[in-house]
Amino acid sequence: MMKRHLGRRLRARFGSLLMIGALLAISGGSSMAAGNAGSIWGADYFPNVPLVTHEGKQVRFFDDLIKGKVVVINFLYTSCPDVCPLETARLREVQELLGDRVGRDVFMYSISIDPEHDTPEVLKRYAERFEAGPGWWFLTGKKDDITLLRRKLGLYSDQEGGRLEAHAVSSIIGNQSTGRWMKMSPFENPYIMATQVGSWLSNWKIPGRKEQDYANAPKLRNVPKGESLFRTRCEACHSIGGGAGMVKSGKRSLGPDLSGVTARRDRKWLTRWLAEPDKMIAEKDPLVMSMLAEYDNVVMPNFRLNDAEISSVLAYLEEESLRQGQEHDQTHHHH
Ligand code: HEC
Repeated sequence: MMKRHLGRRLRARFGSLLMIGALLAISGGSSMAAGNAGSIWGADYFPNVPLVTHEGKQVRFFDDLIKGKVVVINFLYTSCPDVCPLETARLREVQELLGDRVGRDVFMYSISIDPEHDTPEVLKRYAERFEAGPGWWFLTGKKDDITLLRRKLGLYSDQEGGRLEAHAVSSIIGNQSTGRWMKMSPFENPYIMATQVGSWLSNWKIPGRKEQDYANAPKLRNVPKGESLFRTRCEACHSIGGGAGMVKSGKRSLGPDLSGVTARRDRKWLTRWLAEPDKMIAEKDPLVMSMLAEYDNVVMPNFRLNDAEISSVLAYLEEESLRQGQEHDQTHHHH
């Protein structure tokens, strides 16, 4: 009853987006799920490779991580300058939306593809930086074992040729018992991801206390370029005043609030920051160094935005800040 109600509300808000989500289901998923001898992606499909958690616990992939569970899995490396931090920030929102179901009904696993560098200690530090809560484990292991897992989960491409930065950046959501697995892009809306995890894969109700969060979900309309970039690339880490941005949570923001940033910062500096934050970090730009310290060394990703994209996202930041400022003024005039 409640689930249907929620489904209707979400459909009303997101319309065909839910369909797009469904279409992202792993190609060939159904044929693989059909499998042989009735076991759907069972122990005979998934290797039971040993891994170590960021807390130093030894686990086996099939037996301890996925058997009979609903899971969200992604592959990342902690020194990643581009999409991984966004994906981690997104999963943090998904965890926030799912609340205490994570660690009880749903388990989240971020597995390192750079195990030589990403020791359990390094992963622990990374988990702390993003304030990953219980039920979300960061794992490392033997490189070959991890590559095998990625192949089995459809998140490995031979085109990578060993280049870390070319790795597939989707998450995979799965329910080992029902054999349903699907890919999810890190640019996906976190409300949709959480709904998929919470209700598409199993029959739970989304907890009622989280309902107000859905009210904050963006409405489906013709979204201008700058805003759409902000929503898909930036808002997991940045708010703009009291308006646009992040899933509301009790946790600190991963990056600075961007209200008025176009007025606060030099235009050249801002433009370059959006184009190549990794270079400015490497050059130890003083302003960047002080922000890094303030934001616990979470790095701003390099999205390889082109000039037009940078202008449109900066225009959106400016408009949204102005719009909120005007709303604020109006409220004051009334009193
Ligand atoms: C993974 C989180 C994350 C994402 C995603 C992200 N940022 Fe950031 N951003 C940060 C952090 C953290 C800082 C502070 C500097 C640092 O630690 O690298 C920052 C700093 C900034 C600043 C400078 C703020 C100031 O006060 O000078 C701007 C502007 C900015 N980001 C814009 C963006 C835009 C636009 C996007 C999307 C295209 C984006 N960010 C995506 C984390 C993120």
